[in-house]
Amino acid sequence: MPNRVVLGAQWGDEGKGKIVDILAAQADWVVRYSGGANAGHTVKIDDHRFALHLVPTGMLIPSVHCLIGNGVVIDLPCLFAELDQLAGEGIKIAGRLQVAANAHLVLPHHKLLEAQAEELCDDAARIGTTMRGIGPAYADKIARRGIRAADLADTDRLRQRLDAAIGYWDRVSHGWLSQKGCNVESVLAELRPHQARLVPMLTDASLAVQSAMHGGKSILFEGAQGTLLDIDFGTYPYVTSSNTTIGGAFTGLGIPPRAIDQVIGVVKAYTTRVGRGPFPTELTDSVGALLQERGLEYGTTTGRKRRCGWLDLVALKYAVRISGITHIALTKLDVLDTLAEISVCVAYDDNGTISPEVPMDLSRLDQITPIYQRLPGWQSPSVGLTNCDRLPDHAKQYLHFICDTLGVEPLMVSTGAGREETIVCG
Ligand code: GDP
Ligand code: IMO
Ligand code: MG
Repeated sequence: MPNRVVLGAQWGDEGKGKIVDILAAQADWVVRYSGGANAGHTVKIDDHRFALHLVPTGMLIPSVHCLIGNGVVIDLPCLFAELDQLAGEGIKIAGRLQVAANAHLVLPHHKLLEAQAEELCDDAARIGTTMRGIGPAYADKIARRGIRAADLADTDRLRQRLDAAIGYWDRVSHGWLSQKGCNVESVLAELRPHQARLVPMLTDASLAVQSAMHGGKSILFEGAQGTLLDIDFGTYPYVTSSNTTIGGAFTGLGIPPRAIDQVIGVVKAYTTRVGRGPFPTELTDSVGALLQERGLEYGTTTGRKRRCGWLDLVALKYAVRISGITHIALTKLDVLDTLAEISVCVAYDDNGTISPEVPMDLSRLDQITPIYQRLPGWQSPSVGLTNCDRLPDHAKQYLHFICDTLGVEPLMVSTGAGREETIVCG
């Protein structure tokens, strides 16, 4: 099997979890390379819904080995609570997960600082984050103040590193952090119960993944978030704090470009976004409400309502370009089943200038007017279909219009949340 990356092509929640779960059945390893517990990847198996935040989705397939790379920021209580929950749901966990020794940790002060930062902002500047401490954890990493997983193997070093990090934040906050009850001892007390469990999982992720590859194992790289949430290429500042695009796989694991054979972009058949920031094709009318209701568009991590709108092929072309997407998995096609007509954004009107590309400065996205092409709806059920020939003609036309415009191959079409509700394109 080829080594494949599965990444989000829009603003996250495209259905990556479902697609990874299907492809993981053909892989030996599933590895996460970016983000943290801000991710929420859902897999529906029979009547049971699994929501994975930090644990790679491959954990649901017993034969698959899992690894969390150095590009991920890890909240240890969250990781172990998730593993325990999966174990309680009958999933075998023991010996199946490794963690990069150089991955950074999300610590209590990161969450406190994030809550404070969002609270202090005026309304317009608020990002609407998931409040999982992600931004401050990556900020400490870049500022060379972070605590890494390997630090838990050496308690003296851990205390020294915490002294430096917590001491710094306490000083710049004029003692606010310690007033909140957050100090070196409280953080050590939170980490201590996890030390003995984490240390045997630690590994050199780059060596582990590349040795597996050289041994003929096939690797599935599980992305988190989506292209337009990328710290460099997204709608900055309304983004997450990591590279969600292809580069994140290389730096988040220590693998070379030739390690990857296929880049699969997961594309929701319409667009959603949670949190603040520009969204050119957003619909605030009854069609938007219909997509929200039929698509059950509530955040997996925060439960917030997702904003909904038409498919944006201009933004998707950008995602294809940035990550070299070769194939797409089109999800939630069934949500569009009742519509008589479907609009697709094919160009942007930026103050009279018509362009098929996103503007150089993505913050201008809040000023552009989408130019739509209207396609006929199919108004018949696609839900649960497993064979491409059975798709209504107008649904096939929709799929081919997307693939032709983007210059990519269709790999899969998802017609429901369930594992089996999937068309594998031949
Ligand atoms: P991820 O973050 O990209 O893994 O996506 P989420 O799991 O956050 O959100 C996708 C949601 O859509 C989940 O509730 C899935 O169970 C659901 N889902 C995935 N594919 C389909 C589909 O083809 N049709 C429908 N109706 N739901 C889907
Ligand atoms: P998955 O992997 C959708 C959004 C948040 C917020 C912004 C910054 O499930 O697709 P953060 O907490 O990362 O600092 O928040 O990014 N966001 C996501 N939106 N899906 C996700 O992950 C997201 N992870 C972060 O809503 O707007
Ligand atoms: Mg999600």
